[in-house]
Amino acid sequence: MELYKDKTADADARAEDLLSRMSIEEKAAQMLQVSYNTLSPEDYEKYQRLGVGAFLHVLGSDADKIREKASKTRLKIPPIFGIDAIHGHALRNGATVFPSQLAMSCSFDRDLIRGVGRVTAREVCADGLDWTFSPVLCIARDLRWGRVDETFGEDPYLCGELGRSITEGYEEDGYIISCAKHYIAYGEATGGRDAYDSPVTERKIREVFLPPFEKAVRAGCSSVMTAYGSVDASPLTANRRILREILKDELGFRGFVVTDWENVRSLVTNQHFTDNLCGATKAAVEAGNDMSMNTHEFYECLLSLVKNKKIHTSLIDDAVRRILRVKFRLGLFDGKERPDKKVIGCAEHKKINLETARESIVLLKNNGVLPLGEDVKTIAVTGPNADDIRAQYGDWTFFSHPEPKDDAQPQGEYHTVLDGVREVFKDRRVIYEKGCDIFGAENDIKKAVKAAKKADAVICVVGDSTAQNGEYRDRADITLSGFQLELIKKLRETGRKLIAVLVNCKPLCISFLKDNCDAVIETFNGGDFGGLAAAELIAGKYNPSGKLSVSFPELSAQTPCYYNSYDGWHGGRYVDTKGGNTFDFGDGLSYTKYVYSNLRLSQNVISVDGFTDVSVDVTNAGERDGKETVMMFVNDVISSVLTPRMELKNFKKIFIKSGDTKTVTFRLSADELSIVTPSLEYVVEKGDFEIMVGGNTKEYLKDILTVK
Ligand code: NOJ
Repeated sequence: MELYKDKTADADARAEDLLSRMSIEEKAAQMLQVSYNTLSPEDYEKYQRLGVGAFLHVLGSDADKIREKASKTRLKIPPIFGIDAIHGHALRNGATVFPSQLAMSCSFDRDLIRGVGRVTAREVCADGLDWTFSPVLCIARDLRWGRVDETFGEDPYLCGELGRSITEGYEEDGYIISCAKHYIAYGEATGGRDAYDSPVTERKIREVFLPPFEKAVRAGCSSVMTAYGSVDASPLTANRRILREILKDELGFRGFVVTDWENVRSLVTNQHFTDNLCGATKAAVEAGNDMSMNTHEFYECLLSLVKNKKIHTSLIDDAVRRILRVKFRLGLFDGKERPDKKVIGCAEHKKINLETARESIVLLKNNGVLPLGEDVKTIAVTGPNADDIRAQYGDWTFFSHPEPKDDAQPQGEYHTVLDGVREVFKDRRVIYEKGCDIFGAENDIKKAVKAAKKADAVICVVGDSTAQNGEYRDRADITLSGFQLELIKKLRETGRKLIAVLVNCKPLCISFLKDNCDAVIETFNGGDFGGLAAAELIAGKYNPSGKLSVSFPELSAQTPCYYNSYDGWHGGRYVDTKGGNTFDFGDGLSYTKYVYSNLRLSQNVISVDGFTDVSVDVTNAGERDGKETVMMFVNDVISSVLTPRMELKNFKKIFIKSGDTKTVTFRLSADELSIVTPSLEYVVEKGDFEIMVGGNTKEYLKDILTVK
């Protein structure tokens, strides 16, 4: 098994040789990462002269200047430059902005997402940088959490598979390294509050939160970021068990661990783990952090710990060795070759981006109104997010990071929904009235209604804004804010065909839309081409295939509402709800119809080290060619610990021509059926397992597999 793709055969030897020639000051400097916006210009200059190991949030030619300074230091060790390129290299204005991770996860398409990684790597590298702080492998279970948009959704298997794909895409050409984050269980914080304690045990971590990281490590991920928070009251930054024993020793991770922003300082200021920064530095390094992001006193503290013999220097050597190995492997010492800057936002990348947007959009409801027919001569476009590229992009773009730039003008090509409708429906009359904002005490709903009355169909684009998502921005109320619901109600009263398009960072409570609109389309944050892809879908230019990677509750307080929860025995319904979700994981319609038949297992009885092949035939019984995601779920019927009644174990997206039938086969080995026992063993318990194969969590074929 290849854990780490050493492209330079001698990276290990060169790292070892360099390490043997380094002073303790040079080693400590390698373990520090700094950003300009946390330091005074003088200190920033000082750390550059010291030859710190890494920088973040530096772009293009600024990186060249820093590299130049590093080349004047005694050992000329090149710094490594990190950037939050989490849906494209979006902090660089003009680079490709892909749909958010949450949006792209709805594509259920491993190859597509690998391609997203490849494109991003090329653009980041062309811009002079080396390292993306991506993928986010957190599991989005509590929808109040402000960073749901950054995840691949609610399912650990899906998060792991797509995390693996994008990691491979980032790293396979040797342009950049990836960073699996936030290690671990960050999204599970109490009350969906960002950077709080996650009340989870190691058993739970192994069952739900570790598997995606394990897959990223196996895929060759070169760095891992320690989460801000704590698990079961133990701060992650000081958690030797989680970092050193599980990640490094057990999973065999050979890359390096970087803390999240100021984690070392937080051990003092937020987590009250120790009362001084040197104590925090010692705890962080001993736990297994190899690089400190942005607690710059870490450098002086390390030196003082060494001087006073308070830390084993072998731990420092291990950390520096890991960092240098990655730098050699990336070719940083050998004048790294970079693609021409022209690749940034180039035509080929745009094509892949448009494809990604199309595959990511989910058609949630269609009572037959879509695709819009020739009878629709005038279209009214309305809603606060119809023409707001910032909302469409979502978080982590040049608008928001590293500093807010509200008035930035995008330099690359982009299409809002309004743009898209105007382009796709060139031959129709398109009128636009915003109607209302996401927030605010006033509205123009009357004008929107007037426009709607002149039209045959109304496209109303609602959702949320980046002010309601991201770090520090958890929500207790995930309903449509401001006058948005009022706008939809008034538009409904016009009796026109009403299509709701959602441009939002995460699931919202949209049962009113489901009940009152003729069609509902979820785009999440669709990137540069989200608006165009939505308009094309409305026009029927392609057949939608996206499915939800996350469930939508009826009411805010129903979160968490993920599909793969354990059973209770009192009905599981809040007395003041209808019960169930508005939309579930796996929901998503198309313009054709798929029929599943002939589910069969190559063997219905296997041993604990055996496997079976699960096959199903899928027929495209409709009139249009299309792509279907076939999902395989498992239910461990009797188990010594609770297990979900349905757990995704595999999926495959396939293209089927109208009228054709295709067979999909999944290999399922017994070890994929293992549970984690209270004593932390992975055990395959003998007995029956229901195997369910279908296109979502509600309609499937079922068979029984027995493990003997
Ligand atoms: C804090 C965020 O939690 C993390 O995701 C990000 O990569 C770093 N800051 C750097 O911006």
